[in-house]
Formats: sequence, C-alpha cells, structure tokens
Amino acid sequence: MRDLIERAVSDLRNSRYAVVLTGAGMSTESGIRDFRGPKGIWTTDKAAEAKAYERYELFLRDPASYWEEMLGKKGTHGAFYNELRKAKPNAGHRALSELEELGVMKCVITQNIDGLHPKAGSRNVIEYHGSIRKLRCPSCGSRCGFEEVSLERLPPSCNCGGVLKYDVVHFGEPIPLDVMEKAEKEAMECDLMLICGTSAVVYPFANLPMVAKLGRKSSTTIIEVNAEPTPLTNEGISDYLIQGKTGEILPEIAEEVRKSRPERD
Ligand code: APR
Repeated sequence: MRDLIERAVSDLRNSRYAVVLTGAGMSTESGIRDFRGPKGIWTTDKAAEAKAYERYELFLRDPASYWEEMLGKKGTHGAFYNELRKAKPNAGHRALSELEELGVMKCVITQNIDGLHPKAGSRNVIEYHGSIRKLRCPSCGSRCGFEEVSLERLPPSCNCGGVLKYDVVHFGEPIPLDVMEKAEKEAMECDLMLICGTSAVVYPFANLPMVAKLGRKSSTTIIEVNAEPTPLTNEGISDYLIQGKTGEILPEIAEEVRKSRPERD
C-alpha cells in the first residue's frame, strides 16, 4: 500500500491536469450508506432499488406524487435525503479540497448528490447526478434553490410554466447537457484521473475513464482508490488500484503532496 501511495504522489506531482471522479464510497465514512457495497442500500433493499428505477417515470406521470415521496410525505426516500442533509464531509473530502488548494487537483466530478465536496471546500465541482440542494426545470433547464420556490402547492412550477423537480438525476433520466459536456471536457483535458469510491457500473458516468484513456492523443494515468476492485481494475482501464478506505488513503496522499511541494520563496 505504501509504495502505491508514493507512486500516486509522484504521478500527481508530475501531472499537468489531474481530475478526480468520486462515488458513494467517498461518503460512507460520513455515515451515508453506499448503494452496492456489502451493506449498500441496493444490496440490502431490492424494493428500494426497484422504486428508484421507477422514480423518473413517476415524476413524468404524476409529479405531485413524486414530490410527496421526495418530501417524505409518502415512502422512505424523503428520510434518506434528510440523512444526506445532516452529513458532514470526512477526511477524504477534505484531502481532495486540499489537493485543489495545492493546485494539483483541477476538478472533482462526483456522482454524489450529498453536496459534501463543496461543503469540504472544493470549488470546481461537477455534480454529475445533480444535488439535493437544488431544483431543476426539465422544460427550460433552469436551476434554483429551495428558498426560491414555495412547496405549499405540489408540484412547484417554474417561471417558464414547466414543472420543477429535484436537480437529481434519477435512473432513466438523461444527464443534463451542460453537466455532460463539462464532464467530458475535463475527461479529455486530464492527464491523470483519480477515481475514488465508485463501483464504476453506472453509465454514462462510468464512460469517463474511457474518454480519458482513449479520447486523448497523449496517455492518461488512471488511479483507483476503492475498497474493492471494480470493472475498471479487472479490465485494465485503471493503471493501479490502491485498495482501502478513501478517508484514510486520500489524506495520506494529500499530506505527502503537501510535504514534497517546493517551499514558496
Ligand atoms: N473507501 C473506499 N471505497 C469505498 C468506501 C470507502 N470508505 N466505502 C465504500 N466503498 C466502495 C464500495 O466497495 C463500492 O465499490 O465504493 C463503491 C461504491 O459503489 P456504489 O455503491 O455502486 O456507488 P456509486 O458507484 O457511487 O453508484 C453510482 O448509482 O445508485 C446510483 O445514482 C446512484 O450515483 C449513484 C450511482
């Protein structure tokens, strides 16, 4: 493990433009369960997973019922969102924010909707599956905060007349174009991609490492930090896997990068 951490520190220090992709494994050490790990939400509750696959269709068919479910007036999903709101960033989130501070990490592209990367101080964050902190209008694409709308009458409507939904991408829902384009641009630009706490099985997000690996003229180093090997590991897309907890490995990497930085004169 130590030698892989030293290798990652050297790769990061030699990179011109490093980005990091993250998934639910980043937030388990903040008390938020992941989805497909051994105690994951989908691993342990197949009914919840099935409902998640129907959620976008529910929004399209009956937006008022969608909102009742999302606000916890029906079902259990609202409680999950309340759990996310209470969570705090962990040492892994803070380490990525520090690497951005050190000028080494240029962008975080996260699948997580919990907002813990911005809360930890990361500034250039692409929330690929959206965020529970915002609402979005699928008709005109505009986004707003909860403080800007009234939830007295459901569903809330947009000034354009469209129906607002959580700015969260549900299964079967297209990734908003602005987010998709920004993420692909970062993947094309990077010469190092760190991939932390994701099973890398949900598309199109799981395509980004391929875009980084094959979509560029020069080579890209792809490093995984994950509790278990993933298809990226097994198919040789990543150059190496540092197996373990993001909340332990990332702070070690950040500390070594900080220590090896030339002292500012
Ligand atoms: N440190 C490192 N890895 C961890 C940790 C940890 N502390 N905790 C869990 N993991 C690993 C798990 O072993 C698993 O491989 O993180 C991965 C999490 O995978 P998933 O639960 O599938 O989460 P994710 O990849 O983010 O899921 C993608 O699926 O349900 C949808 O929209 C949801 O954004 C989510 C998407």
